[in-house]
Amino acid sequence: MAFFTHHICRGLSSSAVRHVVIQNVTIIGGGQMGAGIAQVAASTGHAVTLVDTNEDILKKAVKGIEGNLKRVVKKKFADKPEAGEEFLQKAMQNVSISTDAGSVVQGTDLVVEAIVENLKVKQDLFGGLDKLAPAHTIFASNTSSLSITDIASSTNRLDRFGGLHFFNPVPVMRLVEVIATSSTSQETFDSLLNFSKMLGKTSVSCKDTPGFIVNRLLLPYILDAVRMYERGDGSKEDIDIAMKLGCGYPMGPFELSDYVGLDTMKFIMDGWSAANPDNPMFAQSEVLNKLVAEGKFGKKTGEGFYKYK
Ligand SMILES: NC(=O)c1ccc[n+]([C@@H]2O[C@H](COP(=O)([O-])OP(=O)(O)OC[C@H]3O[C@@H](n4cnc5c(N)ncnc54)[C@H](O)[C@@H]3O)[C@@H](O)[C@H]2O)c1
Repeated sequence: MAFFTHHICRGLSSSAVRHVVIQNVTIIGGGQMGAGIAQVAASTGHAVTLVDTNEDILKKAVKGIEGNLKRVVKKKFADKPEAGEEFLQKAMQNVSISTDAGSVVQGTDLVVEAIVENLKVKQDLFGGLDKLAPAHTIFASNTSSLSITDIASSTNRLDRFGGLHFFNPVPVMRLVEVIATSSTSQETFDSLLNFSKMLGKTSVSCKDTPGFIVNRLLLPYILDAVRMYERGDGSKEDIDIAMKLGCGYPMGPFELSDYVGLDTMKFIMDGWSAANPDNPMFAQSEVLNKLVAEGKFGKKTGEGFYKYK
């Protein structure tokens, strides 16, 4: 169900802003990110349908959400166990699952896509859903490195298409980058900003430029750290210690790369270096390529720059 609200923006010019109040959310992709977004949306009172092509992944995602929420409840409602149980039940009742995106989008205010980072696959998904979703439904992609404009080009709702870039783990990380293309309407953008606020997140406004804000700054920094290590300017341990103790970063660049996943880092590096072959900031890294070729993707495989076994 969509409602339009009007509220007054305080600022230099007070003007009425319209936004769609998002109540029913369809999240496509039940992996790390999709499950995290579903958890946060369900625990802030949204009716969420989590969609994946794989039923087992969906069951695992729901189990994961329940386990995470139980831990939250134990901490947050330590002296009010009944209120905690009620919160948990309500949140879990807000989550349903489906393997048929086409049928569930018919009653949704917002589709958040968190599937594989592949332009063609994302375009095919949105192109199909565009024909089935109601006119008011907003589409958003959680892509880390692709252009929202390119993804949206497979639809006829360019004004109702934007980016919602969450960070991993979604329940913990407080930021959402909200991305407007040159065709995103003000109403859509305001709706996405408002939705992020309803999730309890802090949002920043981004243009549809490669990497938005965070990854555009983070990737060249990490690649530069890897190049320092390749040249022997510092050991990876020393570079990590230096950035943690010298800059107050919670993780050094090698620890962070292992956490993000070296396969993901390489995917972004490959895309950007192909698109900007003359920009040394995005140049290929031999060490990164070698580790990925060896299947050393970081924490998730037990080894990346460091060993985790
Ligand atoms: N992992 C991160 O740190 C991170 C952070 C921000 C954004 N992202 C972006 O979020 C997206 C998802 O990343 P992830 O790490 O959750 O990936 P993941 O591999 O954990 O999950 C992707 C899920 O999508 C499902 N899927 C694939 N194609 C589908 C389709 N056509 N329809 C329905 N489901 C489909 C897969 O079965 C899988 O469960 C990517 O675009 C990625 O760039 C990732």
